[in-house]
Order: sequence, then structure tokens, then C-alpha cells
Amino acid sequence: MSYEKLKDYLTYHGQEHLIKYWLDISDNEREQLAGEIRKLDLGEMNEIFRRSMESTQLILEKQDNDLKPIPQTHYESVSSLSQSKFEEYERIGFEEISKGNVGVLLLAGGQATRLGFGHPKGMYDVGLPSHKSLFQIQAERICRLHRMSEEKTGKYGKITWYIMTSEHTMGPTVRFFKDHSYFGLNEDDIVFFEQGTLPCFDFDGKIILDEKYHLSSAPDGNGGLYRALKSQGILDDIKRRGVEHLHAHSVDNILIKVADPVFIGYCKSKNADCAAKVVQKSSPSEPVGVVCRVNGHYKVVEYSELTDEAAERKNPDGRLTFSAGNICNHYFSADFLNKISDFEKKLKLHLAKKKIPFVDSLGIKQKPTLPNGIKIEKFIFDVFEFAENFICLEVDRDVEFSALKNSDEAKKDCPSTAREDVLRLHRKYIRQAGGIIADDIELEISPLLSYGGEDLKELVENEVFAISPFHLKSMHETTNGYKNGNH
Ligand code: UTP
Repeated sequence: MSYEKLKDYLTYHGQEHLIKYWLDISDNEREQLAGEIRKLDLGEMNEIFRRSMESTQLILEKQDNDLKPIPQTHYESVSSLSQSKFEEYERIGFEEISKGNVGVLLLAGGQATRLGFGHPKGMYDVGLPSHKSLFQIQAERICRLHRMSEEKTGKYGKITWYIMTSEHTMGPTVRFFKDHSYFGLNEDDIVFFEQGTLPCFDFDGKIILDEKYHLSSAPDGNGGLYRALKSQGILDDIKRRGVEHLHAHSVDNILIKVADPVFIGYCKSKNADCAAKVVQKSSPSEPVGVVCRVNGHYKVVEYSELTDEAAERKNPDGRLTFSAGNICNHYFSADFLNKISDFEKKLKLHLAKKKIPFVDSLGIKQKPTLPNGIKIEKFIFDVFEFAENFICLEVDRDVEFSALKNSDEAKKDCPSTAREDVLRLHRKYIRQAGGIIADDIELEISPLLSYGGEDLKELVENEVFAISPFHLKSMHETTNGYKNGNH
């Protein structure tokens, strides 16, 4: 595209400021800038800005008129399941794992700004006795499921791990896995792919220049998953491998039961196309989205969208009416994911005001101290409304949910709380298996040894655990997962 054509194109779409510094930049930089502009469909980008502003207006109108909780027929709670039901779901889940029908969609494209880590969040070590990263913990849970599947079905399991990264996290994530020999998993069963980006806008819809020759952009949110699944060929890969059930979750829940057989079995036996694991809200004011129905459609209603009355409403049994706290932990059938790629353009756009570095009118790079623009994101849960058979599984927070969002100063959802939550749960597992352990002992159970507290009795019954910190691990374990030949 010649300079004149580029200028006309930009002027037509009201974005001509993007070439304001054309005369100041080198030929290479001009090529870079023109390339970045060419990649964007500016008509679509302007439309995205308009739609995101519009949906923000709608969100601001509190929505409790047509708000209904999830019907009981579509809701089960792990703690109320009979032993036989639990085992039935688990058995079904392991059968699917042994047939290679199960995949995991890991959302690892976020920028982890609140944590302030500077690397992909999955590489974070919260300071457990083993010093394992979040990625390693999750990888080892998958390894363990492969083995358990063999014990339970006679067939070694095969779970395909799809890892969504973004332009910032792709390189370091892939290197980290390679440097750690894929944590004992088969390299072929791990598929990395990259989500898209969207430009950052100022409040008037002008795309922000990050440098004189470079547009400001950010990942398009964890709901960018759906577009990336199609554009990166992942839907084809899912089909080729015969994967039918996908467990999608955030990278930062240290207690995540990756590819949970009970969840998979529950969804399969109910013939669900889309599902969410939820935890009970701890209080009416807990700032967490709730899964509910609005105008007959399943949705996550953000805390800010609920009126105080709706947030505090209680059932006759004393439980909050809107208590199904969303924890970014979902099930999708492969068929549903295929179908959703057609709806992708209809997904709601969420807007966040941010401090976005920019080049000022004098051509000088500035780092603002106040929000000066917006990032636009799509959210993974905004597809619930397109589901034909949506269900929920309530799980115990102390067993399945502890998010790493902030640095320790926040004292909440931070490395210290994540670490404590793991250690507390593992002490509980030791006690359940007949071991003796005091509350101040820091003991961590390797996922290679036990996925959810199982198979510990023989090892720990009547044992007193007094050494702290202590890493209880599998005899086959090396620093990068199982010894060769044991995975
Ligand atoms: P969060 O919304 O908590 O964002 O992501 P974050 O990047 O981890 O942290 P902040 O907001 O910058 O502090 C929830 C999950 O969605 C993923 C994250 O990696 C995390 O697993 N995510 C988020 C993506 O995969 N892509 C995105 O564009 C945004």
C-alpha cells in the first residue's frame, strides 16, 4: 500500500493520527507500522470500539428483573453427591481419559499485571516446599491421571493439553516447557497456540500509538479462545485426535483439578454441551461473578451488575439465592466449540479503563499515572447463553479453588494465600489417610503421588509428620516429572 493509499484508508476510518510521525521514522519502522495497520480491518476495529462502549452502557444498568438462579435440575454439588454417584461420574471420566477423548484448554495468555511477575504466570513458584511452578503442578496432575486411568480401566490414559498463550507469553512458555522436558509428558500431547490481540483505544476511539512506529495492543481476553481455536487450527486438531470433552480453566488456580474425571463424567452423563464448576459465594459482597439465568439464558452476572437486594437475597434454607460463584473452570463438548466459532463475532465486548503508555503530541513516550484509554476483552463465559444443555457442578472452595491474582501486599489471592491453601489441603489429606500432622507443619504432596488425596493410606497411616518443610513425593519422581519410561 503506498503512503497515499495508507493515508486515505486511515482518514476514511478516522485513524489518520497513526501516521503522524511518518517523516520522523526510518524505512524499516515505516514498514513495520504500515504492516501493523494493514493487518487490522479498521472498519471492524471501529465497530468493536463502538460495540464495547454500547455493551458497557447495558452492563451499567443493573440486571435483576429477569434474574433467576440455576434450576436444581441443572445443578449438582460434589459435597452432596452419594458415594455411588461420585464413583459413577469418576468411572465415566476415567473411561473417557483412557480412550483419549479428553483434552484440557489452559488459558495462559494473560499479562499478570496485578501479580507484577514479568513472566507468564504459569512459571510462578509460590514457595511450596518443592518450589514447583504452576505449570509443573498442572502437568503432574495430568501425568497422575494417566496412571490412575490405567489402574482403573486397564488402559493408560491420554489427555491432550492445549495451552493458549498470547504474543507476550508464547515464547517464554514454550521455552519453559522445553527446558523442563515437558514435565514428563509427551511433547506431542501438548499443543501451544496463540490468541489474538486487539488495539488499545483512547476514550474517543482513536487507536493509541505505543511508539511512533508501533500500535498499542493487548490480548483479546480469555474469550479470545474461540477465535484462536479456529484461526490456529486447534478445532481441526481436536477433531483429528478424536477429543470430545474439553476442560478449560485459568492458569492461576493452584488447586485446579486438571481434567477432573468427576467433572468430565458428570458432563458426559448429563449430555451437557457446556458447563461450569462453581463455588458458593462466601458472602453477599464477595466481588465474584455469579452463574445464573437472565431472560432464560445462562450467564455470568458480574458482582457490579447485581443490585444489593439480589446479592443479599436468600432461599428458605438460608443459602444465598445467587451463590454460584464463577471460578473460570468450564467444560465444553468439542461439538459445542465447533458451533461457537460461528457465534464468535456476537460475543460481548468488555471494556477496561487502563493506564496505557503512549506517544504524546510532541512525539515523546509517556507513561500515564491515570487511566487514559481502554483495553477491550472478550470473556470465556460469554458463550454460556449459546449452550443447549448447560449445567453446573458446585465444588468445595478449600479443595478446588485458590486463585493467584495479586502480589503479597494485597494479602488476598496472592502467593502466600495460594501456598497456604495448598498446605492446608494437603494436611487434610494426610489426616484423612490416618497420618498425624500439626497445623504448623508445611507438607506438600506431589501430584505424581496423589491427585486428590487418594492412595495415601499405605504410606502415611499412623505416621507422624514433624519435619517442615516436607515434600512427600513419588519414588519415581525427578525434578522434571517421572523418570524416563515411567510417564
Ligand atoms: P485474569 O483476567 O485474571 O488476567 O485472567 P491475568 O492476565 O491473569 O491478570 P491481570 O488481570 O493482568 O492482573 C484469568 C485467566 O485468563 C487468562 C489468564 O492467563 C488467566 O488464566 N487470560 C486472560 C488469557 O488467557 N488471555 C487474556 O487475554 C486474558
